[in-house]
Amino acid sequence: MWSPYIVLCLVASVTAVAVHNLTSSNFHSFIEGHELSLVAFIAPWCVHCQDLGPVFESTAVKAAVRNWTLAHVDCDVEKHLCRDYKIPIYPTIRVFHREQHTIYNGDRKSDAMLSLLGRHSQPLVTLLSSTDDAVEFRSKDRVTIVGYFDEDDQASKTVFSEIAKANRDEYLFGSISDDTFSEVEDVTKPSVVLYKSFDDGKSLYTGDFDKEKIQDFIDDAATPLIREIDVDLGFFPANFGGMPIAMIFAEKPEERAELVENLRSVAEATKGKIAWVTADPIKYAQRASQVALRPGKWPAFAIEDRPNDFKFAFPSRGSIEDLDPQAIQDIVDDFLAGKLESSVMSDPVPTTQEGSVIDVVADSFEEVVLNNDKDVVALFYSPTCPHCQAMAPSYSDFAKLLKPHTDLITVAQIDATSNDVWPRVTSFPTIKLYKSSFKDEPIVYEGNRTVEDFVRFVKEKGSSGLAEKLKDLPDRLASGTLHDEL
Ligand SMILES: *[C@@H]1O[C@H](CO)[C@@H](O)[C@H](O)[C@H]1NC(C)=O
Ligand SMILES: *[C@@H]1O[C@H](CO)[C@@H](O)[C@H](O)[C@H]1NC(C)=O
Ligand SMILES: *[C@@H]1O[C@H](CO)[C@@H](O)[C@H](O)[C@H]1NC(C)=O
Repeated sequence: MWSPYIVLCLVASVTAVAVHNLTSSNFHSFIEGHELSLVAFIAPWCVHCQDLGPVFESTAVKAAVRNWTLAHVDCDVEKHLCRDYKIPIYPTIRVFHREQHTIYNGDRKSDAMLSLLGRHSQPLVTLLSSTDDAVEFRSKDRVTIVGYFDEDDQASKTVFSEIAKANRDEYLFGSISDDTFSEVEDVTKPSVVLYKSFDDGKSLYTGDFDKEKIQDFIDDAATPLIREIDVDLGFFPANFGGMPIAMIFAEKPEERAELVENLRSVAEATKGKIAWVTADPIKYAQRASQVALRPGKWPAFAIEDRPNDFKFAFPSRGSIEDLDPQAIQDIVDDFLAGKLESSVMSDPVPTTQEGSVIDVVADSFEEVVLNNDKDVVALFYSPTCPHCQAMAPSYSDFAKLLKPHTDLITVAQIDATSNDVWPRVTSFPTIKLYKSSFKDEPIVYEGNRTVEDFVRFVKEKGSSGLAEKLKDLPDRLASGTLHDEL
């Protein structure tokens, strides 16, 4: 039976592994007294610190099993301590090996913190005495890096330690000098073998034992050929060296894994020219629609070259076979040869028009705006822009007022965040007048966002026939009868 007494003990033991609150008086004794600690320097008012709180709490419980400790320092109170550690922003997390410390740049998630502590709890470079040791070692992490050099080769040893130091947050390092390793891995001393749990399983470095060159090798070899998009990687072009991104969208993780297998050789052949990713189309629905993929049928494939405002959508009929390597290879070849045409992102063409303002989408833009003899006033908006929301009533009144003249003028609007129209409009709201005789060079509206000013604008800048029809309007506006009109 559980007695209340035991429950109390359990509660007590849980609080015993909570995050320690360090002050200037106990900081150094605490750090010295623990082999490995993760310390967050925080301020109580900082939102990200508040978010970190519960993550740190739960990590502390799991870390305690391994004798790793988590602590925080309140920098509002411990100003000197935080100044000593040159804390630039809150929260700043540091990994302490007693007094030795490095900054923690990883995800603010339990798993990431625990794996980092795991790596830090190993020696900087684990000495592997036999090839068997090396085999066991490489199963310890997603990426393990083994240096192969003679025990008395101080130069290589030093370079490798420095490399290990710079990368220990991310990878496990070991070294071996046993000659049998040569035969197993077909390498000679000195060299580096990087083992990975993905792609072809390992990469060999046999060049000069130079720090920068080895670092380049690691950066390249440790990056999967096709990366999975998650919150940390995102779709930011900078994360892909500014290269065009080939995107494989599939709903289930096992489908993504299968497509990675199928398309790896295509990706391999474009290395350095195109970055490849997989993504969940439900989680990243917005990105999928931005590359002109319509919701519904997955898996699908797309290429995006954001710096050049290019996108290409290759929808499928909903089967993995549709994304067969040959089909994708052909698309990629055409893309690289500049033979592929950019796809157009568009909302569905509306079947009915609700308000007085005509809703236009990319697919109907040509018909409604460009390819006719009317003047067209088009409002480019974003659904989330406050100025767009603020002007909506006057724009709608303006449209109502011009309703009797729909043979001469159309008042339209387009959500420019979900429809591609070139040249791309990026500031909202933007209003343009496409004059009937001169559609190629629309006039950008710069006046105030009132009905009166809209009317004045079309009278002044619109086609002459329209001005004639509207000539009575200013008087009526001035006498305040506009609203009777509506
Ligand atoms: C942590 O210690 C600081 C003094 O450094 C103190 O002001 C603060 O109240 C303590 N926080 C908690 C939760 O005990
Ligand atoms: C944690 O530390 C205690 C006391 O220092 C020690 O007895 C125990 O073996 C350590 N546990 C682990 C997992 O290292
Ligand atoms: C817009 O309105 C402000 C005052 O409401 C006025 O000062 C300004 O001249 C107007 N701008 C234009 C372009 O009409």
